[in-house]
Amino acid sequence: MTPAARYQAAIEVLDAILAGQTPEPALRAWGRSARFAGSKDRVAISDHVYDVLRNRGRAAALAGCTVPQATGRALILGLLRLQNVAVEDVFGQMPYGPSALSADEAKEHPTPDILSDTPDWLLALLKAEFGPDLEGLLAAMSTRAPVYLRVNTRKTTPEHVIADLAQAGVHAIADPRLATALEVQTGARKITATAAYQAGLVEVQDLSVQMAMAEIPVPQTGRILDYCAGAGGKSLAIAARSDADLTLHDKFPKRMGDVALRAERAGMVYQTREDAQLDHEVQFDVVLLDVPCSGSGTWRRDPMVRWRMTPETLAALQSEQAQILDRAVTLTAPRGLIIYMTCSLLRAENEDAVHAFLARHPQFDLLQSRRFDPRNASDGFFFAVLQAK
Ligand SMILES: C[S@@+](CC[C@H](N)C(=O)[O-])C[C@H]1O[C@@H](n2cnc3c(N)ncnc32)[C@H](O)[C@@H]1O
Repeated sequence: MTPAARYQAAIEVLDAILAGQTPEPALRAWGRSARFAGSKDRVAISDHVYDVLRNRGRAAALAGCTVPQATGRALILGLLRLQNVAVEDVFGQMPYGPSALSADEAKEHPTPDILSDTPDWLLALLKAEFGPDLEGLLAAMSTRAPVYLRVNTRKTTPEHVIADLAQAGVHAIADPRLATALEVQTGARKITATAAYQAGLVEVQDLSVQMAMAEIPVPQTGRILDYCAGAGGKSLAIAARSDADLTLHDKFPKRMGDVALRAERAGMVYQTREDAQLDHEVQFDVVLLDVPCSGSGTWRRDPMVRWRMTPETLAALQSEQAQILDRAVTLTAPRGLIIYMTCSLLRAENEDAVHAFLARHPQFDLLQSRRFDPRNASDGFFFAVLQAK
């Protein structure tokens, strides 16, 4: 495909996303309808789509539109201007590229600041939180997210697995901030096909999550409950460093569908329990709560989250987070720990949720908390360790 044809494809995918599809299914659907496209074309089209979604406010403004007005065509036009790519090399390159610009589209617009990539109501919350650091944070959140691997030190060492991966065409380097974290430099799309991945030597896991999992106090024995287990990423990180008895639960058991395979690869032993069953269990030494949240820390990977969130969805999440925290109290042993985690940048879901919990449950103490973001780690992430008195 020509460069212009790839942009035309990105326009079509963006229009499908604006009509309500999520990015990955929209890209796959386009791929199925375009068997002629090679793997490099698909990668380029996906990059264009994600570049637009991460810079959506500025791309719309550079095409003379508001975010709700902007079509796929307008967003690609704005992206080209944002990236200083010659518009005439793309628009008007028929038959496969987008048609030539109209006189209205050809009008130039001033480049807006990076704050316009975030809806106003969210910007107000983030400004209150990050003050003068906000622009730097948003700039970091508008770039492509790096890919990190967690080395399963029960099975291998970072040095060995770096060499194994290199043989399979995946070039990864150790991150200076955490010995077991590798940053993938090239070949990220090949990871799941490598023997190292298939043998459970590595898992894909963001650096911030890995740093949090390395910092939290995890006992070597005793009983740990991963109450919002989902695909089991946090449990796998615990199993790599602890022999404690692991129990997994999720309100939606289907979300644990991948756990069995991942556990087998990594050598993790665990059991699952429904919520009602947990009342008949001995209480847990650690209850890990990787709660449902706004995902505002993962905007680089899932850029639509920023525009789909509303004050109402945030309020509903906050109330669910409080309910989950309250439920955990009944499951935690005396002197036991509740470890609360989110992938959110918002104080409302992090420190405020913890302080409200402590006010409701004065029998708990806050032992430790920390937040991560692209300026000191990778994705936005938060954890707090609460101990029962
Ligand atoms: C952030 S995700 C967990 C990701 C997972 N821990 C991992 O590392 O792969 C949050 C999970 O909480 C689950 N969840 C939502 N509401 C819940 C509730 N009231 N009780 C327990 N789990 C809940 C969701 O189904 C989702 O899988």
